[in-house]
Amino acid sequence: MPMRTTKLLEMKQAGERIPCVTAYDYPTALLAEEAGIPVILVGDSLGNVVLGYETTVPVTMDDMVHHTKAVMRAAPGSLVIADMPFMSYNASSDEALRNAGRLLQEGGAQAVKLEGGLTIADTVRRITESGIPVMGHLGLTPQSVNQLGGYRVQGRTLPEAQRMLDAAEALQAAGAFAVVLETIPNQLAEVVTKRLTIPTIGIGAGGGCDGQIQVIHDILGLTQRRPKHAKLYADLNAVIGQALRGYAEEVRTGAFPADEHAVQIDDAVLRELRGIIEGGGELDC
Ligand code: KIV
Repeated sequence: MPMRTTKLLEMKQAGERIPCVTAYDYPTALLAEEAGIPVILVGDSLGNVVLGYETTVPVTMDDMVHHTKAVMRAAPGSLVIADMPFMSYNASSDEALRNAGRLLQEGGAQAVKLEGGLTIADTVRRITESGIPVMGHLGLTPQSVNQLGGYRVQGRTLPEAQRMLDAAEALQAAGAFAVVLETIPNQLAEVVTKRLTIPTIGIGAGGGCDGQIQVIHDILGLTQRRPKHAKLYADLNAVIGQALRGYAEEVRTGAFPADEHAVQIDDAVLRELRGIIEGGGELDC
């Protein structure tokens, strides 16, 4: 039985914190589900951490559908939310609805996430009224990096903070089931969290949110530049680097593969084979 978006509201009401993580492929999604993380976001951060782009701007709908499918195969019991990539929901609400539908129909996700505030509230309403659950995303919205002038803290001034509060309320009124708050001051995140009935999921927004999300590559040490808000839970770059150097060395020295990594032929077959070869005969196969 998959986790549902409605469960998040129950968790907020019960004061139960919500752990969320990104995943983009079968093995990481499997690990996340097996670790009991109830919410998996197929984030467009896959552009940075998997596809090697500088920003999330080049990520396409086809990329998102492809990766969402892989995550769904691994995590049927989790709530899987797929990011709508840049320009998949900005031009018109018709196009937004069609693309959101693709992430559910083709990708298999249960919900979608969109970046932005008041300007996308009508689009969010259109999508949610069509039966597709929507998660909002406020604060540092990476798809707007070119407009924001870099990956900077948002909501530090009174007008910015007020705009964010209004945007959060507008997304809730438009039917969003949760809102991500990225890289905003802790105190502002607390105010937003108290003001909303739907859960807030923070990333770089302090401990006052109803849940937390992190990019899996950041917390497992698989990225070169880890953001300040990401705690290192394992240093897999070091572990994998050491393992690969060991593998390469053993291939060079001949220590790998050993007998236990190879398949043996039956002695009788081998004797016959040698006989054929030594007698100059043809192999019968
Ligand atoms: O794309 C992503 O990974 C995200 C999270 C950082 C919230 O949007």
